[in-house]
Amino acid sequence: MYKKISLVLLLLVLFTSLVLAQEKEKCITCHQVVMKGIVKDWEASKHSKNGVTCSTCHGDKHTSPANANLALKPTIETCAGCHSQQAEQFKEGKHALAWIAMNAMPKTSAQPKEIMEGEKGCGGCHRIGKDGGKCDACHTRHKFSIEEARNPLACATCHMGFDHPQYEMWSTSKHGIIYQMEKESGRAPKCQTCHMVEGTHRVMTAWGFLGLRLPEEDKKWEEWRVTILKGVGVLDPQGNPTPRLDVVKAGKVARLTKEEWVAEREKMVKVCKGCHSNSYVKTNFDNADAILKQADSLMADAITTVEGLYKDGILKKQADYPLFPDLLKFYDVPTSIEQKLYVMFLEHRMRTFQGAYHMNPDYMHWYGWAEMKRDLFEIKEEADRMRSKK
Ligand code: HEC
Ligand code: HEC
Ligand code: HEC
Ligand code: HEC
Ligand code: HEC
Ligand code: HEC
Ligand code: HEC
Ligand code: HEC
Repeated sequence: MYKKISLVLLLLVLFTSLVLAQEKEKCITCHQVVMKGIVKDWEASKHSKNGVTCSTCHGDKHTSPANANLALKPTIETCAGCHSQQAEQFKEGKHALAWIAMNAMPKTSAQPKEIMEGEKGCGGCHRIGKDGGKCDACHTRHKFSIEEARNPLACATCHMGFDHPQYEMWSTSKHGIIYQMEKESGRAPKCQTCHMVEGTHRVMTAWGFLGLRLPEEDKKWEEWRVTILKGVGVLDPQGNPTPRLDVVKAGKVARLTKEEWVAEREKMVKVCKGCHSNSYVKTNFDNADAILKQADSLMADAITTVEGLYKDGILKKQADYPLFPDLLKFYDVPTSIEQKLYVMFLEHRMRTFQGAYHMNPDYMHWYGWAEMKRDLFEIKEEADRMRSKK
């Protein structure tokens, strides 16, 4: 009796492995010819050594060039089946919200589709949050390598350029320079050291992209913050919350309680203390926070200047908006003074505080602060010109 069962079992095992081997062979033998790069990458991966084959992720319905449309497109849920911890952490962090945040901007739907869905502009970076999330943003297919994702260059394709040049700032800071000289010696921190502590896939910072937190205890700062919140349309010109506040909440664009903010800051401070003294770290953060406050003072001054032009009828009321400039329309604004205001907000204010938090004096000062001063001067001069012309 037992003999019979084990014989059946043995045959079953033999049969399934034969089928599996054949199936594997079919996908791979053909793709070795038509896309040999993909097969090579897969062969270099841990997956190929652990029986995770083409059909594990793409299904087995597509069997020939004629029915390639039947190949399944793997999603985060495919990966979650075997890597639930990383997928869960990812979903709690900001990367998972990237597609939602992009679509929440008032002018996104007015851009050519190729920029968003086509992933040529905004969508090319924000795809990290598309369809729930793209794990191949840092572990590119089909190598899906841990080493690649541990390299700070894995962050560089997105965290660079106009409004978030973290890669440029870090790589020319003392931390980044030491890292490049000594690589993985561990003496200086890279992006992952500070933002993915112990390999967590949940990324989130205290201030976030816009550097706007809600409750503010510092009275002067609160006043400037309110002006900026009106500028991004979260508060209406009278100071009441608008529907955009719900978008901010859904996209976790800002920390909305003191506890939330402090929790993220404390995690970061703990990282620094692995290599620096308490007081050294505290001084650094006190100075960086103070710089953000100073930047907000310049920003609020500029917004108020442009708001005045609306109030006094020098700028024409926009059909779809109250008497106020809208910073979230970015470059889709009707006058050159508002174009300048957007650059001041998105490029120069960002560089000022992001440079301060990434220990980069040059970005903080010359690409950030100095440019903000110049923007403010030019905005005021242009406002005077517009007034006297009227
Ligand atoms: C006889 C050759 C052949 C076999 C067998 C084959 N493929 Fe393909 N596959 C192709 C070709 C050719 C394309 C490209 C079609 C195109 O570009 O329109 C393709 C496309 C794909 C795509 C991309 C689909 C897309 O929409 O971009 C995936 C994924 C894929 N194959 C996976 C597999 C898997 C998994 C198997 C095994 C279950 C498999 N292939 C078996 C030839 C084959
Ligand atoms: C661990 C899961 C996984 C395995 C195993 C896997 N793929 Fe993929 N593959 C993906 C993911 C993820 C994408 C990107 C899907 C998307 O567009 O978001 C992809 C995309 C593709 C594409 C279309 C994109 C391109 O670059 O042309 C092809 C073709 C493809 N895979 C073929 C294969 C073949 C052949 C194998 C086996 C040698 C294989 N895949 C094994 C996950 C996998
Ligand atoms: C059927 C299960 C399965 C699926 C589905 C799967 N993986 Fe894996 N993955 C594994 C196994 C097994 C390993 C090897 C683990 C080890 O060696 O410790 C692995 C290893 C990895 C590694 C570490 C590689 C290294 O260099 O050490 C990464 C990254 C990874 N997978 C990403 C993904 C991504 C992204 C997806 C979805 C596109 C995915 N995996 C889908 C089973 C799976
Ligand atoms: C494919 C593009 C892409 C890659 C690659 C990428 N990111 Fe991001 N990252 C984004 C986008 C887009 C956001 C904004 C998402 C949102 O807040 O809606 C973001 C947000 C973040 C945030 C949160 C900032 C905040 O608001 O608090 C951190 C931290 C971060 N990324 C770190 C990293 C690190 C570290 C790496 C490399 C290991 C990396 N990212 C790789 C696109 C990317
Ligand atoms: C080069 C890649 C890239 C492009 C292109 C890009 N973004 Fe981003 N975006 C990012 C990264 C990275 C972040 C996070 C930066 C940070 O936190 O400092 C981000 C942050 C954002 C945020 C803030 C999310 C939050 O919750 O804090 C919004 C909104 C946004 N982007 C919208 C857009 C729109 C709309 C476009 C096109 C007009 C665009 N982005 C183009 C990479 C990109
Ligand atoms: C922002 C970049 C980034 C994204 C996006 C990302 N990873 Fe990772 N992943 C990393 C880094 C960095 C490590 C190495 C962590 C460490 O040093 O322990 C890693 C490690 C891993 C490992 C190996 C864990 C271990 O300890 O062996 C797996 C598996 C993995 N990731 C799966 C995923 C899955 C699944 C997704 C999508 C939900 C994903 N990753 C998305 C950066 C990323
Ligand atoms: C020494 C630690 C450290 C390193 C290394 C580091 N960061 Fe940061 N990062 C910070 C701190 C501190 C903040 C501000 C945190 C806060 O709000 O309290 C920050 C903020 C951010 C933000 C939110 C917006 C901003 O810039 O203020 C993003 C996105 C980000 N970092 C990405 C990266 C990327 C990508 C790299 C690598 C190129 C990197 N960081 C390297 C410490 C670091
Ligand atoms: C893995 C260790 C390590 C971590 C973590 C680390 N640092 Fe550093 N840091 C260094 C080293 C090494 C130097 C170079 C020391 C010197 O300038 O003599 C340095 C330099 C600095 C400098 C001086 C920069 C300059 O231009 O001279 C500041 C400020 C700084 N770190 C702040 C921080 C802050 C804030 C954090 C946390 C967000 C942090 N560091 C995390 C190792 C680290």
